[in-house]
Amino acid sequence: MMQMSKAAGLLTLLGTMSAGCSDDAPSGNGSSGVVSRPAPTKDDAGGTETPPAGPAADCTSGDEGAPVPSSAAALQTWLQDRAYQCWARESTVHASTGPHGGNVRVFLNASLQASLTSGAAEHPAGAVAVKELYGSGKETVTGWAVGVKTQAASSGGQGWYWYEVFDTAPNASGALEGQNKSLCTNCHASGRDFVLITHPLR
Ligand code: HEC
Repeated sequence: MMQMSKAAGLLTLLGTMSAGCSDDAPSGNGSSGVVSRPAPTKDDAGGTETPPAGPAADCTSGDEGAPVPSSAAALQTWLQDRAYQCWARESTVHASTGPHGGNVRVFLNASLQASLTSGAAEHPAGAVAVKELYGSGKETVTGWAVGVKTQAASSGGQGWYWYEVFDTAPNASGALEGQNKSLCTNCHASGRDFVLITHPLR
């Protein structure tokens, strides 16, 4: 079936690039070899930049689009609106340093931006990161990877809903998704409450 082989291909891609990070062993070997970034050069003012070109939305609070759904169909619909493009974000589309192949750009909602800035050990319910996936280009979004904190307590990963899709159609199927999804948490467990992005955002 189309869907199955597509998903299998994506898993293979992640597995290939993860060097042992996507197996099911909660071993903590994590992504230590994957996260390699130049020191951040920006201060904490990542949320104060003007919004990127594109969305017509009025950006005011940095918390546009709240609350963010944590189920596949609703989230795919929510992503269509691109309200997240009002959030704090990386200043450019850049090559992923992780397994999220190709070019990417990460957006953090107000809750997650504040929590990372404060150095909190656990992020509050409603904290969300959206990563735009651009593939080999830099102009067109081809998919998304999303993490939604669904409860305050991280509980070893139970507090996070994960979603990754390589299709921007409203009715896209074949997303990799789920609460505490091991494919995602095996790497993300090494982050600050499962968040890996360099912060302050560069
Ligand atoms: C092999 C390790 C690995 C796996 C598996 C993985 N990620 Fe990531 N992820 C990363 C790294 C490293 C970053 C940050 C660096 C980058 O991508 O440029 C990241 C960033 C993200 C971000 C931006 C917020 C953050 O934590 O930095 C989201 C959202 C995300 N990943 C979602 C997912 C989802 C959903 C899955 C499962 C379908 C997944 N990831 C699987 C390594 C991984």
